[in-house]
Amino acid sequence: MTAVLTGIGGFLPPRAVTNDDLSRTLDTSDEWIRTRTGIRERRMVSEGLSTGSLAVEAGARALRSAGVTGVDAVVVATTSPERLCPAVAPEVSSRLGLGTVAAFDVTSACSGFLYGLATAAGLIDSGTADTVLFIGSEAFTTLVNQHDRTTAPIFGDGAGAVVLRRGAPEEPGALGPFDLGSDGALADLLAIPAGGSRQRSADAGLGHASVPAADWYLRMEGRPLYTQAVERMAQSAARVLDRAAWPVTDVDWFVGHQANLRIVRAVAEELQLPGERVAVNIDRVGNTLAASVPLLLNDYAAGGALRPGHRVLLSAFGAGLSWGSTVLVWPDVKAEPVD
Ligand code: ACO
Repeated sequence: MTAVLTGIGGFLPPRAVTNDDLSRTLDTSDEWIRTRTGIRERRMVSEGLSTGSLAVEAGARALRSAGVTGVDAVVVATTSPERLCPAVAPEVSSRLGLGTVAAFDVTSACSGFLYGLATAAGLIDSGTADTVLFIGSEAFTTLVNQHDRTTAPIFGDGAGAVVLRRGAPEEPGALGPFDLGSDGALADLLAIPAGGSRQRSADAGLGHASVPAADWYLRMEGRPLYTQAVERMAQSAARVLDRAAWPVTDVDWFVGHQANLRIVRAVAEELQLPGERVAVNIDRVGNTLAASVPLLLNDYAAGGALRPGHRVLLSAFGAGLSWGSTVLVWPDVKAEPVD
């Protein structure tokens, strides 16, 4: 038996921030952001919305899409936790009326959806759960210094969710194989230095007085990350296609993590996948980390471009460093537009 995708949903906070909006407070321009990243606008949380509330909205839509009111487990992938402790998944489960089922978070930055999907599928494969609600949810813009032009334009907030159920490997929607990997030697290329135990231990008793303000926010070395992202995603995607015995010509849609339009295109080029089979929505949402892949799947399914029977390659790369890929044949699931 294996995990089969049976429902999908997405949610974006209502506040849209365009490149021109950013240019009013940052030394940047719509032209620079569009040509370097492909992003035109992104959504940002406001008025009390945060990772948990975005997850509840997306989760409710995925449950509706699957036509179920209960699941055996809830998993949330996020790198913008609601609080340092506890995990947000139990609260999301409770707010969705799912009772006292197993619930926990997975942290793997932009590859969080692939890592979380493999974990959720593993709960089903191992017989621990028959159904799982898995949500990628991020309010990551709250962790980005909005006065730093090298990071502020890139990220956006949102949530995407899927429902998985126990099924047969030959069914449409069956997930896998998976390819997952990491390189912790390069962890510092993308990190938020303060807030965790490393800084708190070093800072013991000083009341954070010694922590530079910038350390509470994301630090990113864009150039080396760009190279790593292209290389790692392309290699991981090629490995998973090999394991699945899918020639690249069989792939109808490459649904890659939306970190940067140039990165997604470069990965497709490495894989020799034509541009018309590359799914893209970064222009409207930016980089939404663990929410990126499910929001893109939801967009394409709701818009009718992704149809039952299409062969889909999923791949993501992010901080850690970490990366992951999987494949599935798109099932006959209902998808609503995010707004
Ligand atoms: N507006 C105008 N100019 C800018 C801006 C901006 N917003 N940001 C940087 N610049 C300038 C730089 O200062 C630099 O100027 P200089 O040449 O005078 O020094 C110039 O533009 C070029 O900067 P680069 O950083 O070299 O630009 P690059 O083409 O590499 O694009 C980017 C930067 C978009 C960040 C790119 O490197 C990238 O996408 N990297 C990968 C990001 C990624 O994949 N992260 C991992 C996933 S995220 C996660 O896991 C949370």
